[in-house]
Amino acid sequence: MKNQLISILIFFFFLIVFINGKKYHLFGENESSTISSTNDQRLLVDVDIYNRPYVLPYLLRQLEQLTCPCSQCYLDLHLYHVFNTIAENETTRLLYEWVSAMKKSDQTIFTTITIHEWTSQTNNDRVNRLYDVMKRSSELEITYLVMFDSMIILLEPEKILSILISKDKPLMTPLLRSTKDMYTSTFYLNDQQTPDFYAYRQIYERKKLGCFLINGGIKDFYFFNFNYPQIRNVFLTNENYEKFQPESAIDVIARENSIPSYVCNREEFGYIPAQFLEALNDESIIHDFYIHLLVEHQLNGPSQTYLSPIPRTSLINIPLSKEKTKFGLDEIYVINLVRRNDRRERLQATFDILNISVRFFDAIDGKSTINQKYLENLNVRLLPNYEDPYNQRPMNYGELGCFFSHYFIWEDMIKNEYSNGILILEDDVRFDVYFKYKLEKILLNHSLDWDILYLGRKIMRSNEENYEQTIETFLIEPSYSHWTVGYALSLRGARILINENPLQKILPVDEYLPIMYDHHPNTQWKNHFHNRKLKAYAFHPSILTPTHYFGEPNYISDTENTPIFGQNDKNESVTTPIVVSVDVVATQKRIEESTSMKKDEL
Ligand SMILES: *[C@@H]1O[C@H](CO)[C@@H](O)[C@H](O)[C@H]1NC(C)=O
Ligand SMILES: *[C@@H]1O[C@H](CO)[C@@H](O)[C@H](O)[C@H]1NC(C)=O
Ligand SMILES: *[C@@H]1O[C@H](CO)[C@@H](O)[C@H](O)[C@H]1NC(C)=O
Ligand SMILES: *[C@@H]1O[C@H](CO)[C@@H](O)[C@H](O)[C@H]1NC(C)=O
Ligand SMILES: *[C@@H]1O[C@H](CO)[C@@H](O)[C@H](O)[C@H]1NC(C)=O
Repeated sequence: MKNQLISILIFFFFLIVFINGKKYHLFGENESSTISSTNDQRLLVDVDIYNRPYVLPYLLRQLEQLTCPCSQCYLDLHLYHVFNTIAENETTRLLYEWVSAMKKSDQTIFTTITIHEWTSQTNNDRVNRLYDVMKRSSELEITYLVMFDSMIILLEPEKILSILISKDKPLMTPLLRSTKDMYTSTFYLNDQQTPDFYAYRQIYERKKLGCFLINGGIKDFYFFNFNYPQIRNVFLTNENYEKFQPESAIDVIARENSIPSYVCNREEFGYIPAQFLEALNDESIIHDFYIHLLVEHQLNGPSQTYLSPIPRTSLINIPLSKEKTKFGLDEIYVINLVRRNDRRERLQATFDILNISVRFFDAIDGKSTINQKYLENLNVRLLPNYEDPYNQRPMNYGELGCFFSHYFIWEDMIKNEYSNGILILEDDVRFDVYFKYKLEKILLNHSLDWDILYLGRKIMRSNEENYEQTIETFLIEPSYSHWTVGYALSLRGARILINENPLQKILPVDEYLPIMYDHHPNTQWKNHFHNRKLKAYAFHPSILTPTHYFGEPNYISDTENTPIFGQNDKNESVTTPIVVSVDVVATQKRIEESTSMKKDEL
């Protein structure tokens, strides 16, 4: 296996060398750790500010956090006035406000901050812009030029400039992480047909760490080191920028002049939204991709712990939107245990970023709230013959609490007559990049008749589902499914669920729902319920998943390891709970054996 891998690599290596006739090779790791003296050296940070005001709170904070590793650092910001839109005016206003706030503050990073305004989108102007930055570099006697666009997100801005310098490469780019499974970064790697793809993917996935000589194609973030005469000669004196398409000018010039380009990935530099053709003409997709990176960042902590959000500037006032969306629904409930404050904090920041208005609903805590008295008051009875298929045990208090939380929300919906529907989310929810886009598309179409919409679920019987027959592009009719991580419910649906009196024949809520849309395989259980008429649809693929799957690091269930209810009780009413600690590993094994699906195959 390993030998095979090596021969493939060697094959690609020669292929590339022969095809391109280049004198350098892929994977030519060359990392220099010596930081050359930075005295009397000057650095220019040059940023393209596209007209996307939503990036500014984050971008500006990152610029504020840079530290200057040279004797002088300069900041040039480029603004584009093209279509006379509100977004353009807003971007311009905020930028001038920030620059004047920076000048008033006692910041010591930049010697000067300059705004360059471009007033047309003609190719000439955009090429002139490249010419302009080289001319500036020449006039200011710049040693290091750092060029990037406003969409990137840097994780450790205070370190990045000195790290880039320490790599001592003529032309390089830092690897930036992009949207999951979309292979894009600051170098071209998303063409799966090219022989480089396999090798590039190893760099992208950080299977190998270091600085790698690549076959050209860096983009979006450039580090020029003018200590190298070749870089000086080629870029500072080039008068022919108009020969090139502006997007690829740097790359083409580098290739034509055999300038080696490097990508470095040892440090986690940050993020860049996925880029592909379809997105170029749809600003809303670009927006959602950027927002998604901010949201996902919070889930990128070591061993799947939470990270604090990417910070926003406080130098100028850019408030978060007060008006937030509910997708036309009457309420969005988020079920959260009061003792899981970490999850609430994570989600509060997430919903702020996603611009979604929610109501936190204190979950019924199986550990502290539920006792015999509580169950008696609700007249709770276990479904006859119910036994957890994986643990061979009746329900535990955690599962009861979970059922009650959902049940009380259904009741609340009916009490408030929420005829526009509601959304119920659990607090371990993770949002797909297309979550808002697809949900809006479905919910804004009022002609579709639904009672329950699964936004995320565990498919239990994929052989019973027809993925060809989609409804409104994104939906299918679900067969037996588990999980309640996120679903929308109609008022009629809530009434059907409540009128069945499920507390008097209780079973886990994610078994109850498939019974009520009549796709449960256990006829014995099913026959206790009568009006099994929920009209159910499911997003396929799911637009929500849980943040942590069973058995992964930091998977903490709020329902496992709670007392068991109704153990061996012929009477089926409340008995003294028997505490049974669940063997997590054994349970997981049973789940894997009993379902043919892999755990994360949704
Ligand atoms: C590594 O880089 C240094 C300077 O950047 C250069 O002198 C040296 O030849 C390079 N080594 C290899 C193996 O390319
Ligand atoms: C943008 O600002 C300019 C100048 O202040 C103004 O003339 C124009 O109407 C504004 N455009 C929009 C769309 O608000
Ligand atoms: C947030 O949503 C509200 C309501 O849909 C909308 O008016 C507002 O423009 C949105 N704000 C942002 C920043 O997207
Ligand atoms: C809304 O849904 C109905 C019923 O599924 C469908 O016929 C119609 O084309 C949809 N309308 C839009 C605008 O998508
Ligand atoms: C079950 O037990 C409860 C309390 O112990 C009692 O009140 C009830 O009558 C019993 N029900 C049946 C059907 O035996």
